[in-house]
Amino acid sequence: MTETATNKDKKTKSGAPSPQSPSFKRGTNVIAVASGKGGVGKTFFSISLSHALARTGKKVLLFDGDLGLANVDVQLGLMPKRDLNDVIRGRLALDKVIQTYDAGGFDIIAGRSGQASLSALPSQRLASLRDQLLEVAEDYDIVLIDLGAGVDRTVRMMSASATKTLLVTTDEPTSLTDAYAFIKLGNAAGMSKNVSVVVNMAPSKSEGEKTYKTILKACENFLRLSPPLAGMISLDPRVKESIRHQTPLLIRSPNSDAALDLEKIADYALKALIAEQKKMKAAS
Ligand SMILES: Nc1ncnc2c1ncn2[C@@H]1O[C@H](COP(=O)(O)OP(=O)(O)O)[C@@H](O)[C@H]1O
Ligand SMILES: [Mg+2]
Repeated sequence: MTETATNKDKKTKSGAPSPQSPSFKRGTNVIAVASGKGGVGKTFFSISLSHALARTGKKVLLFDGDLGLANVDVQLGLMPKRDLNDVIRGRLALDKVIQTYDAGGFDIIAGRSGQASLSALPSQRLASLRDQLLEVAEDYDIVLIDLGAGVDRTVRMMSASATKTLLVTTDEPTSLTDAYAFIKLGNAAGMSKNVSVVVNMAPSKSEGEKTYKTILKACENFLRLSPPLAGMISLDPRVKESIRHQTPLLIRSPNSDAALDLEKIADYALKALIAEQKKMKAAS
């Protein structure tokens, strides 16, 4: 991994850029990855989705917003010299802690494990961080935020600045309940309309669909919302294995079930961003 803060004009390396692939209007290109509960594969998904999108030729930035647990660097075996902590402590501007993850062809803003969480930041500092992120986002086709689990103030603020939120859940009852709570609280804050659901660790297609329907029904009955399904990711031993080897799944096991599922979700995410853009254009 090499550090660069000046790769603004660089194209991604992995995968040939496809000339037909859409380019997004700057400022409408942020995808937040959320989960009600930790341990559902949010970080694995954020990394793999960034990677899959980079492979379509997009210039992608992954922001590790789950400070305190700082998973992204750990899962990829990186030892960032600069990270979000330097920004929070006022030592560096956000664009100065961007690092290129060469193997994946995307950029990363790392958190750091063991540091205080973003939620401990005063609101003003948090708002400034968000504004800096939106500014940095202008240099990218797509920015992904790996949010902390739950629905605290930080998560709400980051999610509200996203064009699209992908909510990761598994079929575990606690994960489902917490995912529903995320949509419910987000709805009250006016930010659930752009949420799509990702069912992770699906033992089979039919079980994954069952999980999605459970959450859909609850949302329809109690919130009058119908969050769409972004996709399902198979429960796949290759995921654990790739994390253990600190190598992205799409490199280590590109033909695994989970990898193929991720490529489909990347396609969904691209289409969802285009749709949001059209909506915004029509409204303006
Ligand atoms: N699709 C999957 N199949 C099998 N195991 C998975 C899958 N997704 C995630 N995992 C396992 O779940 C663990 C937690 O993932 P992680 O990305 O750290 O979750 P979170 O960020 O939500 O806390 C991983 O270490 C991995 O072993
Ligand atoms: Mg995580």
